Amino acid sequence: MKTDIETIQRLVLEAAETARKETASEPEPEKSRKAKWPLTCTVGPGLEGAIACESKVGYVNGAKGWLVYRGYNIFELCAYSSFEEVSFLLLHGKMPKAVELDLFKRKLFNYARINKVIMQLMGFPIDQMSVMGALRLGANLMRSQYRNLDKANARPAPFDAISADEDSIAMETLPSGSERATFEFRSSVRRAAAKPKRGFDKASGLEDSCHLIAGISCIAAAVSRIHNGLLPLEPRPDLSFAGNLIYLITGRQPTPVQERVMDIALILHADHGMNASTFATMVVASTLADIYFSVGAGIAALSGPLHGGANEEVLRSLREIGSVEKVKPWIERKLAEKGKVSGFGHRVYKAYDPRARILGPLAGLLIKEKPELKPLYAVAQKLEETVLNTFGKEKKIFPNVDFYSGLIYSFLGFDDELFTPMFAASRVAGWTARVLEYMENNRIFRPRGLYIGEFNKRYVPLKLRA
Ligand code: CMC
Repeated sequence: MKTDIETIQRLVLEAAETARKETASEPEPEKSRKAKWPLTCTVGPGLEGAIACESKVGYVNGAKGWLVYRGYNIFELCAYSSFEEVSFLLLHGKMPKAVELDLFKRKLFNYARINKVIMQLMGFPIDQMSVMGALRLGANLMRSQYRNLDKANARPAPFDAISADEDSIAMETLPSGSERATFEFRSSVRRAAAKPKRGFDKASGLEDSCHLIAGISCIAAAVSRIHNGLLPLEPRPDLSFAGNLIYLITGRQPTPVQERVMDIALILHADHGMNASTFATMVVASTLADIYFSVGAGIAALSGPLHGGANEEVLRSLREIGSVEKVKPWIERKLAEKGKVSGFGHRVYKAYDPRARILGPLAGLLIKEKPELKPLYAVAQKLEETVLNTFGKEKKIFPNVDFYSGLIYSFLGFDDELFTPMFAASRVAGWTARVLEYMENNRIFRPRGLYIGEFNKRYVPLKLRA
């Protein structure tokens, strides 16, 4: 008789096998290699297609449906690893030895005791704030708890920040007939001359990262409890990161299945290429603002409904649809209004998102523990089937990570307002890992905007304006 934990592992490995078979005809990527800067690439609005940096942290292949952290594929990590181990992997670039993992877990646990931050937060009107808003504030309060960078001479020296002005670069021209401009950008050759590293201290950056990974989830849990008129709880040393997160939110000891599913959800959200929130975090860090401010920017970017906020939208849609029979007319209405179906589509994946491939079956498994949510899960399955058959397969629009994550968190007993904060609680590992990596050879982010306005307009004094 298989245990439920073995069943979870089997479901993940089966999902891996289905993914492998479905995308077998897609070519594997070339062996990765360092770029020879400067690069020439085709750039679309919103920097689509632009390559801004090199990274060994993670890799996404949209055609094969691959998600890779530091060389390890996401299915293996979900089958065998834990969020603590994956966070170590992302930050340090290697799998921990047993003693290293133990120390790392203890460090996260110690950093999770952020009573002072919670007390400070309670002095703000957090009952009127979203959890994401409170998280942003909490990241800032964590900064003042731990560091004292505002003191004049404690600020990092901004020597590494080199910015370019439009004036100093020739204006680009759009190739005629092409909708997307091809811009050549030059990476400063000056960077080849190595400079001594100042301004960003990797050791304290690593500590700050652990502090943030441990603290963000605790703040989310505490704020959610306060919103429900409950007192925040202290993390328990006998529980894993995932187990503690469920306990801190619900006050209940999770079942092994709930704990393992939460762990997998955290692993799945930890990193995902140069997505909007990772980019926002890196942009702020590249100015040598500290990592707490940078993570605050990531939280803000993640809150939007096109990014991390989509999981809340999905649940709203499922409840609005209400029953399996109403799925088809709901989709028809949505498409007639030129709306998007939340939880579907992705800028990178043109195959089934591997994260949704894992979360879907896990949501099915959790139903056993909460049969009252069966109708909602049935609506989700019907919605997936109908989207795929009406336009999804044709347009390569598949469920993304947000489609099943909200359902999973509902099954675990979390309020909707916690769905996006759970994304943040995990993604903070990827944000910080990428910042640490980027800061090893920092260059301030500074793309250009194409000016399409007028020149030589004369200033008309206010009283003469019609
Ligand atoms: N429902 C219906 N049609 C869609 C959807 C959708 N969810 N997503 C894309 N399309 C259609 C879109 O209408 C367009 O069709 P056409 O070519 O006929 O005009 C085509 O697919 C391309 O869409 P796009 O908006 O240009 O694609 P994009 O790469 O700019 O957008 C996206 C990616 C994720 C913003 C978009 O798919 C979307 O808005 N999805 C819903 C929101 C969502 O689920 N977001 C979570 C993303 S995954 C988690 C994360 O990374 O944060």
